[in-house]
Amino acid sequence: MSLKLLEDSSNKFFLKEDQICKLSVHEYNKNILEIGFGNGDNLVNMSLNKPSDLFIGCDAYYKGCAKLLKQIENKNIKNIKIWPDDIHLIIKKFEKNFFDLILILQPDPWPKKKHKKRRLIQQKFLDDLNQVLKHEGILIISTDHNVMKSWVLEHLHVRNDFLWIKDGYSYTNVKPKWIINTKYFNKAFENNKVVNWFFFKKK
Ligand SMILES: C[S@@+](CC[C@H](N)C(=O)[O-])C[C@H]1O[C@@H](n2cnc3c(N)ncnc32)[C@H](O)[C@@H]1O
Repeated sequence: MSLKLLEDSSNKFFLKEDQICKLSVHEYNKNILEIGFGNGDNLVNMSLNKPSDLFIGCDAYYKGCAKLLKQIENKNIKNIKIWPDDIHLIIKKFEKNFFDLILILQPDPWPKKKHKKRRLIQQKFLDDLNQVLKHEGILIISTDHNVMKSWVLEHLHVRNDFLWIKDGYSYTNVKPKWIINTKYFNKAFENNKVVNWFFFKKK
């Protein structure tokens, strides 16, 4: 993709901060947020399968955003918007009860104790996610890392504003069919690691 094309399509598909609070909750059938989309393959797949839904993707990794833009142009996708930066800069700017679904697939585990503040899942961040999810909206997190698995269990266990779903079991290693194998799932499989899936519903 030439620089000029990249600039034109980023103008079309990158969200600006002041546009976020103006997004109308009812313009699309459902509103979905994927945080840390990597190279964007799953977002592209979901958006093609559900053209009436809005997909907002967020990743601070610029090369991944450029890859996603290329796919959006090549596949003529209309229902993806990208925030090419840190999610913390915008999460509070969405209207309350905006999202039907939030996905966090394979967040960076930051396994060392001294780096735990860098982990995306923190109680304050879960407060923010809860605010922007609709009543009974779904939060899905996956990880192949044992430190992150315990971290998710620990952080969600103490909350009463998210319900564990999936018929009585708290997590599973079965991926929903509508989510495709991302780069980090493939890395996990290559290294014989099990990917754990957590499903929560906003109370
Ligand atoms: C381990 S990668 C997983 C990528 C992808 N979900 C996958 O499964 O292949 C984590 C991604 O989260 C992004 N990320 C980490 N912290 C973020 C933040 N605060 N805001 C936005 N993106 C973030 C990183 O740039 C990276 O692309």
